[in-house]
Amino acid sequence: MSAELEKDLFWESSIFGILYKQLFVHPKPLPIKVSLSGNTAVITGSNSGIGFEACRQLLQIGLSRLIVAVRSQASGDTAAKKLRMEFPDVDIKVWLLDMAEYDSIVAFVRQCRSLDRIDYIILNAAMQSSTFRRHTTTGHELVFQIDYISTVLLCVLLALMLKDRVHAGTITKPPVLTIVGSDTMYLSTFSAAEPVFPRMDNPTGYSRMKQYMDSKLLLMVFIRRLAQQINPDDVIINVCNPGMVAGTGLGRNGSPNPGFVEKYAIPLFARALGRKVQSGASVYIHALLGEGKRGHGSFISDWTIKPYARLLYAKEGQVLSERLWHETMEELKFASDHGIEKLFV
Ligand SMILES: NC(=O)c1ccc[n+]([C@@H]2O[C@H](COP(=O)([O-])OP(=O)(O)OC[C@H]3O[C@@H](n4cnc5c(N)ncnc54)[C@H](OP(=O)(O)O)[C@@H]3O)[C@@H](O)[C@H]2O)c1
Repeated sequence: MSAELEKDLFWESSIFGILYKQLFVHPKPLPIKVSLSGNTAVITGSNSGIGFEACRQLLQIGLSRLIVAVRSQASGDTAAKKLRMEFPDVDIKVWLLDMAEYDSIVAFVRQCRSLDRIDYIILNAAMQSSTFRRHTTTGHELVFQIDYISTVLLCVLLALMLKDRVHAGTITKPPVLTIVGSDTMYLSTFSAAEPVFPRMDNPTGYSRMKQYMDSKLLLMVFIRRLAQQINPDDVIINVCNPGMVAGTGLGRNGSPNPGFVEKYAIPLFARALGRKVQSGASVYIHALLGEGKRGHGSFISDWTIKPYARLLYAKEGQVLSERLWHETMEELKFASDHGIEKLFV
């Protein structure tokens, strides 16, 4: 569906369009007629921010089992305790997942296999950083590592697992997997010209927002391509965007000596225009329940399907997509034991 929305791109990606959406487009109410009784959901980075609120909203509509996937046991336990107070009858489990560690991701997917069913997954964990830092093992820049590479690894492994289950007949309706992107991808100036990974790992010209926007753009490029490999009758995959949300932890990892813009202008801008976490999280719920198969491979924002970023409609976007796919698969080939090579057929 996003593929057919190029005509809306000018408005959606303009500063006026973005301001209009932030100020005047309001959440669709939660689907109160839907009951998620008997269903299981997994949400990463759900100890805080929009991920935590998404847990609450799924529980409000009757979810029976929730996996709170977090990197810190203590913060997961605190989040689960709050949720259990509000929803005492629900089975809430805290499972460890560190998106900075491939071993942790692979172990988490193995743990997910132990569940008899998974109906909904939200890959929400992400970060920003004002300083360029490399992952000590992989050598990749850390935001690119967490927001793109590791998210893609987790997404692919979970999608393959869900697909196998549908084929085995243990799930009857397609599970939905939504990956949290950002409409800042519209502002990315990333080009298709050269190999992707070396550019994302290059400290020259690094800036907090550029690295974040580019990582989220690449996520959309990869997920669109992945969705072409996966039948929506097996697994529905989309990318969702909460919009600018105030008061979450995303503003952490600031520079040691912040300038005026980072210290005052951005927080003020976010406070003035930012949505409440409840609104942001309700876009996730819409991405899970509101679009069905027509949202497969699409970008879901403002409680509807929106266009891709401009590059994805251009011929060079196709070049980038293929390049990114191959570079990513090369990076993740260590996971071939887990079926990743099935994506090549
Ligand atoms: N806020 C916005 O305006 C906005 C706009 C568009 C998109 N988004 C997207 O919305 C999602 C949620 O962001 P948020 O605003 O709610 O920020 P947040 O409060 O900082 O939440 C991010 C979550 O990701 C987790 N996380 C970070 N690195 C991790 C790692 N290595 N392993 C496991 N978990 C990790 C964090 O866990 P810890 O607490 O342990 O650090 C936290 O639970 C992100 O994907 C973000 O890009 C946000």
